[in-house]
Amino acid sequence: MLIPFLNLARQHAEVEAEVTHVLTRVMSRGVYILGPEVEAFEDEWARFCDARSAAAVGNGTDALVLALVASGAVRKGHADEVITSPLTAAYTALAIMNAGGVPVFADIDAETYTLDPQAVEAVITPRTRAIVPVHLYGQMVDMPAICDVATRHNLIVIEDAAQAHGALLGEKRAGTWGQAAAYSFYPTKNLGAYGDGGAVVSNDVRLIERIKTLRQGGHARALPDKIEGRNSRLDEIQAALLRVKLKHLEKWDRQRRNLADIYHQALSNSRIKIPVARSLKAHVYHLYVVQHPARDRLRSHLAEREIETMIHYPHLLHQQPLFWRSEQRAMPVAEHVVKRIFSLPLYPQFGRDECCAVVDAILDFDE
Ligand SMILES: Cc1ncc(COP(=O)(O)O)c(C=O)c1O
Repeated sequence: MLIPFLNLARQHAEVEAEVTHVLTRVMSRGVYILGPEVEAFEDEWARFCDARSAAAVGNGTDALVLALVASGAVRKGHADEVITSPLTAAYTALAIMNAGGVPVFADIDAETYTLDPQAVEAVITPRTRAIVPVHLYGQMVDMPAICDVATRHNLIVIEDAAQAHGALLGEKRAGTWGQAAAYSFYPTKNLGAYGDGGAVVSNDVRLIERIKTLRQGGHARALPDKIEGRNSRLDEIQAALLRVKLKHLEKWDRQRRNLADIYHQALSNSRIKIPVARSLKAHVYHLYVVQHPARDRLRSHLAEREIETMIHYPHLLHQQPLFWRSEQRAMPVAEHVVKRIFSLPLYPQFGRDECCAVVDAILDFDE
C-alpha cells in the first residue's frame, strides 16, 4: 500500500462543500485583501487562543518578524541577540535576522526536543533582548521555566507557535505565555490555509494595533515611531477558508492524538524512541517524530514498502554557514538527536489501517 507522508486533498474533501460556498461569497463581495473576513478571522483566532487580540499577516515568518520589531525585542542597528532553538525550521532564525537581530542558539531537552531553559540561561549576554521558544512538532516548550528565566533577566518572550495550533499547557494556550506569539497557516500546519498565511496573537492590544499598521507599512498615513513597516497582508479568500477550517481544528487535533496513541502503543516496546508529551494536551502532533539509531536504513526499508517519511530537520541551524558564530557553544543533545530523528506520516485524515501498516513495516525491520 502506497502511504504518502501527507495527503491534503483528503482534508479538502471533508470541507469541500463549505469551501465552495465561502469562495463564492468572498469573490462576489468584491473586497479581496484585509476586509471583513480577515477581521472576523482575527477575532475568532484570538478567541480560540484565549488571547485578547490578533493580527493576520502574510505568513508565519512575517508574523515573527513583526512581533519582534513591534514588541521592541529587536531594535534596528543594535545587533540585539535573540535566543532560540537550533532544531527548528530555518524560518525561525531567518525571522530574527530579517528583524535585524542576531540569532543565538541554546541546546534542547533530550525528551521533548524543545528549548532547554537552563541552556537558555547559559547563553544570555548583556546583548540578549529576547527568547523565541519554538513549540516544536506541536509540543509546548516548558513555558513556566522559560518565562521565569525571561523575568529574571528582563527579556521579551515571543513564542514561535507555527506548529502548535490548539496546544495547551496547564490552562494556557500556545501564544498566551509570552508578550506575543507567531502562528503560520502554511497549508501543512494543523490549521492550514490554501496558500500562505500567518498571525500574531497577544494580550497586548496596543502591540497588535501596531502590527496592523506595520503590516501595510507603505499605506498607513502615519508610521509608528521609526519602525520599518513591510507589506504582509492576509487576503480575504485565505481568511474565509481559515474560518471554515477553524471549526474543525479541535476535532482534527483530537484525531492526531488518537493516531499518535496507536503509534505509541504499538511501538513503545520496540527500538524506536517514541515522542514524550509533557501532558496530554501539551502536544498536538503536528509531526510524529521518532528516533532510531539506524535511522537511514530504517527509512530505506520503509521507502521500499512505499511508506514516505521525512526528517524534521536534517541540519541544525547553529551549524549552517549563515548562522554560524565563532562564540557558539556545542549543542550535545541536539547534535545527538539530529542524526536519529525522523517523522512518520500522521494527519487527521490518515487511516488507522495506514497507521497499522506503518507499524507492521517498522516491526518487520531486520536490523
Ligand atoms: C517552527 C516554524 N517557524 C516558522 C515557520 C514559518 O512559517 P511560514 O512558512 O508561514 O513563513 C514555520 C513554517 O514553515 C515553522 O515550522
